[in-house]
Amino acid sequence: MKRILTGIQSSGIPHLGNILGAIQPSIKLSNITESESFLFIADLHSFTQIKNADALKQNTFETASAWLACGVDTEKTVFYKQSDIPEVTELSWYLSCFFPYNRLKLAHAFKDKSSNFENVNCGLFTYPMLMAADILLYDADVVPVGKDQLQHIEFTRDIGIKFNNHYGEIFKIPDSMTTKDADYIPGIDNQKMSKSKNNVINIFDNDSNLRKQIMRIQTDSKNINEPKDYSSCTIFKIFSLIASESEIFEMKKNYVEGSIGYGDAKKLLFEKIKSNFKNEREKFNEFKLNPEEVESKLKIGSEKAKSAAKKTLKRVRSKLGY
Ligand code: ADP
Ligand code: TRP
Repeated sequence: MKRILTGIQSSGIPHLGNILGAIQPSIKLSNITESESFLFIADLHSFTQIKNADALKQNTFETASAWLACGVDTEKTVFYKQSDIPEVTELSWYLSCFFPYNRLKLAHAFKDKSSNFENVNCGLFTYPMLMAADILLYDADVVPVGKDQLQHIEFTRDIGIKFNNHYGEIFKIPDSMTTKDADYIPGIDNQKMSKSKNNVINIFDNDSNLRKQIMRIQTDSKNINEPKDYSSCTIFKIFSLIASESEIFEMKKNYVEGSIGYGDAKKLLFEKIKSNFKNEREKFNEFKLNPEEVESKLKIGSEKAKSAAKKTLKRVRSKLGY
């Protein structure tokens, strides 16, 4: 049985772009019956940026709640917090001592981040070593990631192969799988929706705030009776990702014929988001009132992950001479 493993950055409440672009496709993949799935919140990686204990905790909780609310099946998926299995940091050290500094210097993601952040710490630099440990510790076969993370999977494969050549078979060598071929979901300013751009639609917010976010979507200034270009309109783009074929057809027709104004299109989008994500929103609010439930789900996952991690580490230590 193939083991699929992926890590989730914990950086606050996931927005509609994260949900449609990452959460839903990952959950779909983890529900494939012929494979088993490991899904974890990468809260040790978050420490490269977040140095406030309450914020770190809150982010992890909100991220986990959102994934659970969107349908992670904890019976089928080993869903856990990275920091609950400190074995990963030990493995990360062994891997770091095997990977050439000159190669790590070439990491695109580090170059990107270090030119944008003020706080460029060593953890940010060795981030790919912890990521490699996340993967090799659990004998993953397939790692679904966005294109920006492909180089990190290449590093992981290289270290695994080098170790195996030097010490004999220790690690399973994983394959990557690119998940994001689809276009980015635009935010309310028509740019890529992103937490850092303050342009998100947060489906987990209350009705009044959700409505305000949608009403702020930027459009051109065509009035109600003018024909409109649906293909360049953010309201239509988002609507078409969550509505049925007949609803999309109707909306398109109204745009082309000039029989709908942007205000009414936004109202339809608001209603669609509410009805489409009714369950997810309810569950998220339940978790907010009952954080122990989220903790206990993560704990069950951590126990399963821990037992897999211990086995690998025992194997590694004995090969290395410890
Ligand atoms: P953000 O830009 O909001 O900080 P992240 O970089 O944390 O989002 O991305 C988390 C996941 O969500 C990644 O897999 C990323 O590809 C996906 N994602 C983020 N923004 C979008 C978007 N606007 N459309 C589609 N997928 C997105
Ligand atoms: N670095 C990944 C990202 O930014 C998150 C991550 C951490 C990850 N560890 C991983 C993804 C292991 C896949 C496998 O999205």
